Amino acid sequence: MSKFNLAKLVNPTFDSVLFSEKSHLILKGGRGSTKSSVISIKLVNDFLNDKLSNVVVLRKVGKYLRTSVYEQIKWAIYEMKVANQFTFGSSPLKITHKKTGTAFYFYGVDDPMKLKSQKIAKGYVTHVWFEELTEFAGREDIDVVEDTFIRQELPGNKQVKVYFSYNPPRNPYEWINEWVEEKILDPAYFIHHSTYLDDKLGFLSKQMKAKIERYKENDIDYYNWMYLGEVVGLGTNVYNINTFKRLDGLPTDDKIYGISFALDTGHQQSATACGAYAITVKGKVILLDTFYYSPVGKSVKKAPSELTVMIHEFIEAVIDKYKVPVLRRTIDSAEGALRNQYYHDYSIRWNPVAKKKNQTMIDMVVSLLASGRFYYLDNENNKIFVHEHKIYRYDEDTLNTPEPKVIKEDDHCCDFMKYFCLDNSKILGLS
Ligand SMILES: Nc1ncnc2c1ncn2[C@@H]1O[C@H](COP(=O)(O)OP(=O)(O)OP(=O)(O)O)[C@@H](O)[C@H]1O
Ligand SMILES: [Mg+2]
Repeated sequence: MSKFNLAKLVNPTFDSVLFSEKSHLILKGGRGSTKSSVISIKLVNDFLNDKLSNVVVLRKVGKYLRTSVYEQIKWAIYEMKVANQFTFGSSPLKITHKKTGTAFYFYGVDDPMKLKSQKIAKGYVTHVWFEELTEFAGREDIDVVEDTFIRQELPGNKQVKVYFSYNPPRNPYEWINEWVEEKILDPAYFIHHSTYLDDKLGFLSKQMKAKIERYKENDIDYYNWMYLGEVVGLGTNVYNINTFKRLDGLPTDDKIYGISFALDTGHQQSATACGAYAITVKGKVILLDTFYYSPVGKSVKKAPSELTVMIHEFIEAVIDKYKVPVLRRTIDSAEGALRNQYYHDYSIRWNPVAKKKNQTMIDMVVSLLASGRFYYLDNENNKIFVHEHKIYRYDEDTLNTPEPKVIKEDDHCCDFMKYFCLDNSKILGLS
């Protein structure tokens, strides 16, 4: 089979990966360090050198396979100019070598039973790749796969090669950070760390590098985590308040194209709060106004039918002032009463957003903040928003655990901010 010049396709920092004799290779690091590309190229290369070789590529969630790892392997095959040797199947997801019948198989680990029943048509599994390992639930997930594909005898004393790739989470106590610490001492494992600074061959676009520089200026902690791949820890404060930029008025060199509203509802003791967010042509997000009603200490508390009127008036006033379309109205999906009442009153449906893990939602907010695009108008109503974000913090007693908990007091603006980011993630380009 043909030989490729891997040196042209792979940054020099990965030479040690290409030539490692170890059976388990962990490639961790910051975003855009070309880890996934390197693994895909190496896998295609090794696959072509063994007529009976099969490769299994895994992600936690099956539905993401098609648009990520499947495309990544396909990309490597085209990059190495061997596409004519393969057929690209989509149901099931499989990239098959025409001549040998061996293949790249793609599985989601979210369905372990399905995983166990998989049959390899021809030959044996020589390589396994766990992509985005942070998504996996824990070592149990790795064990299930090892039981299925790895503990088998290969001819000629060959051993199955296992690749892992991921971006380290911030929290040192998350399973994967503890797992990799242990593996340092394991002779079967090779651990490699890379960042975008290792891209000596210049694959990353200028645009990408400029974007990274902006993060570096705005929030060094975030940069160290996201782009240097460091386990920076969480700190007590959830947000870096310096990333909330104050505005006296709307920018003159930009234009609002729409407004999104996000609502967190409360009942007996907790407040109902709604944020009005402008999204601009240049991609800025500006908190224009905040609605806040707290029932605490009030002898007669507002009924849902009164709250909907108050919220509606708030929204109408904002729209009337800025005269741009409403992009989204977002509400916590667990909230039925107010949503139904609002529909009853105004025939308008709020979009219920399915909450994610709290830390996942926080990370999404952080990624907007760290991009340096978030602003608030410095007015009376927005003060509560800034205040709540300033005091929002983790419970010290849970900080050194895999899942630190936030202190759930005066966090209503923090909650609607999360719903806003979740529901507008596409418009805002957040992942
Ligand atoms: N050999 C190559 N030729 C052309 N482009 C490349 C090559 N290797 C990497 N790239 C480009 O570099 C960018 C980053 O690569 P890649 O996605 O592999 O990085 P990563 O480290 O896996 O990133 P993340 O941490 O976000 O998963 C991609 O846009 C990819 O297309
Ligand atoms: Mg990657």
